[in-house]
Amino acid sequence: MTTLARTRAFVPSRPGALSRRGRAQRKTAPLSCLPRNPPSHRPPRLAVCARAYDKTWSNPAGQVLTPLVDGVVWAAERPFTWNSIDVGGKMGVVKLEDGALWVHSPVDLDAPTKKAIDALGPVRHVVSPNYEHVKWAAQWKAAYPDATLWGCPGMKRKYPEISWDEELVDGEGNFGGARAEFAATWFDCEANPFTGKPFFNETVFVHKPSRVLFVTDVFWNYPETPKLPLGTKAWKFGMDRVYLPFYRKAMVTDATRFAAKRDALLGGDAFDAVLPCHGAFVASGGAKLIAEHLGSS
Ligand SMILES: [Fe+2]
Repeated sequence: MTTLARTRAFVPSRPGALSRRGRAQRKTAPLSCLPRNPPSHRPPRLAVCARAYDKTWSNPAGQVLTPLVDGVVWAAERPFTWNSIDVGGKMGVVKLEDGALWVHSPVDLDAPTKKAIDALGPVRHVVSPNYEHVKWAAQWKAAYPDATLWGCPGMKRKYPEISWDEELVDGEGNFGGARAEFAATWFDCEANPFTGKPFFNETVFVHKPSRVLFVTDVFWNYPETPKLPLGTKAWKFGMDRVYLPFYRKAMVTDATRFAAKRDALLGGDAFDAVLPCHGAFVASGGAKLIAEHLGSS
C-alpha cells in the first residue's frame, strides 16, 4: 500500500461523506436514558434521548443524544458508512456554564437531532476541528446563524465557500465568554507525506469542568466486542495495526514538536475522559490511552 488513496482507506473520512441518516422510526424513549429524579435544570428527556434511529454498534440504543457526563456532555452517535462499513462517528455537545451549547464535529442536523439540541439550549459555538470534519458545518451555521462557526487554523483558505466566523487558536481556550472552560492543542506537525500539506490539521479540546478531551482523528477507540460487524473489525485492524504506525512514522513531520504538543496536552492532569469521533467513549483513564496512542514513552 504505497499510495495516499490506499492509505486513506484506513482513515475515517468526512462525516458527511460517510454518513447515513438513520430512518426516522420514533419509538418510546428508554426510561433508563437519564438518571431517576433529575434536577430541574436538566432538559426534557424525551426530546434529548428519544430513540429515533436503527440500533447499530455505533449507536447501540438508537438514541438521538447519548448522555455522557450528567447534564453537561452528550454525544450524537451516528453510523458513518464507508464502502458499506460502519466506521462510526460521534458529535460532542457541551452545555457551557452559561447554559449555551458548544458543538464539536457536527453531524447531520436532521429533525430529531435539531429537536434534541433545541431542547438542551441555545447553540453558541459550532466547531469543525480538522480538515476532514466539515461536511455539516454550513448546515449548522444556516440553522444557527447567531452561533460562531469555528474551524481549525487554515480552514478559511481550505474551504472558502463555508461561512467560517473564526479559526481556532493553539493553546487558547477560544470560544469568547466560555474561553476559561476549554484548552486547545493544535497538532500542526503532521502532513500528507505525498503532498507535504497538512492532512487532518486537527485541534483537540479539553473541556475543563467535565475533564473530557474531544478528539476527532488524532485518536480513535474502536471497541473489542463480538458485536462489532466483520467489516468494522477489519477497519479496526487497519486503523490500529496499519494506519497508526504509518501515521507516526510517515505523517508526523516534526517528532520533537509532536511530542511537545502531546506532552502539553497530557500535562497537568487536565482530562480523564475522552470522546473520540470514531469509537467508544472513554469514561476514565483516557490520559493513559492518549499517551500510548501518541507514542509517549
Ligand atoms: Fe474522522
